[in-house]
Amino acid sequence: MAVLVTGGTGYIGSHTVIELFNSGYDAVIVDNLCNSSKKVLERIEKITGKTPLFYEADIRDKNAVGKIFKENNIECCIHFAGLKAVGESVEKPMEYYDNNISGTLALIDVMGKYGCKNLIFSSSATVYGTPKEIPITEECPKGECTNPYGWTKSMIEQILTDVGNADKEWNIVLLRYFNPIGAHESGLIGEDPNGVPNNLMPYITQVAIGKRERLGVFGNDYDTHDGTGVRDYIHVADLAKGHIKAMDAINKKCGMEVYNLGTGKGYSVLDVVKNFEKASGVNIAYKIMPRRAGDVAVCYSDPQKAKKELGWEAQYGIYEMCRDAWNWQKNNPDGY
Ligand code: NAD
Ligand code: WQD
Repeated sequence: MAVLVTGGTGYIGSHTVIELFNSGYDAVIVDNLCNSSKKVLERIEKITGKTPLFYEADIRDKNAVGKIFKENNIECCIHFAGLKAVGESVEKPMEYYDNNISGTLALIDVMGKYGCKNLIFSSSATVYGTPKEIPITEECPKGECTNPYGWTKSMIEQILTDVGNADKEWNIVLLRYFNPIGAHESGLIGEDPNGVPNNLMPYITQVAIGKRERLGVFGNDYDTHDGTGVRDYIHVADLAKGHIKAMDAINKKCGMEVYNLGTGKGYSVLDVVKNFEKASGVNIAYKIMPRRAGDVAVCYSDPQKAKKELGWEAQYGIYEMCRDAWNWQKNNPDGY
């Protein structure tokens, strides 16, 4: 029995494959490499001593995905594959709706045909829009997303909920990630964005390594302790472990479930900069810029449901997240 990991050579997927191996699962990866490198496979081997079986394919290609099910005994699918750049999704909405939504529709169709009805889906705190409550519980109503990427996550959640309601054989866990950062402690795998990073931590690490002159801080007039945006950053290794706990729930036939995966703590942009400087010993030049369209002031989770029901809780703090992000960047200045 094996777990199919779509998008498994990507940032979160690769860390999750390691945790699957550490927990005794077999992993099969399908990825079209549109935002990742095959080198990840060697790195996973270096860390775990095991190489995941890899299929280079697009999940929208039902024949290719069907072949994977034919050739392997897949018990569950962890579905990471998708496009994730918020700004790009505004410019290319069709690409995002096609890749993320058509990809998921194709995947669940093939899964159903092969009788594999266990799915863990990578959702996002972005589905809460401008959150109606802080900290955000799973009871908080979903909101208006500010970009097509966010809408794809919100729509896929709805599709999967309807599929689960129509056929009770499905066990589907929607995991709403807050802000994943950091890297595996080995420094062998980590986040490797193409071009100019959109997200805060890879931008900071690229300033630290000398690739970017300085960080632009998007707004210092929010209603927060220092005026900069507050987020719930979570170490990617903790996030990966959350998927193993979700696998346990699936194995107990949980039906439809949704969990926040965050730490429950909020840090501002400047808090992150300070922690990064402390962890790396490198000074980060920054400049205050106008607010970025679509950003909310504060977003952090109430992670109690995952703690109570899954027995999962984040272990790493912001310092370790910064330390490990820097360890990855300085060992791999040009990524993979
Ligand atoms: P990533 O881009 O590193 O990984 C996604 C992987 O999917 C890549 O390896 C890419 O090549 C692959 N892929 C994309 N479309 C594909 C397709 N049609 N067929 C096959 N493979 C395809 O991103 P990540 O940060 O690891 O994110 C993983 C998932 O988690 C995504 O669904 C993302 O939307 C979601 N998520 C990410 C964050 C974050 O901040 N990183 C936050 C919340 C949710
Ligand atoms: C964090 C904070 C910025 C960059 C995004 C997606 C979300 C999810 C996680 C996938 C904010 C500030 C950032 C920079 C800055 N992804 N910032 N300068 O926007 O919370 O969430 O990634 O699902 O859907 O929207 O993360 O890292 O971009 O920003 O000041 O160069 O850092 O304004 O306050 P965000 P982020």
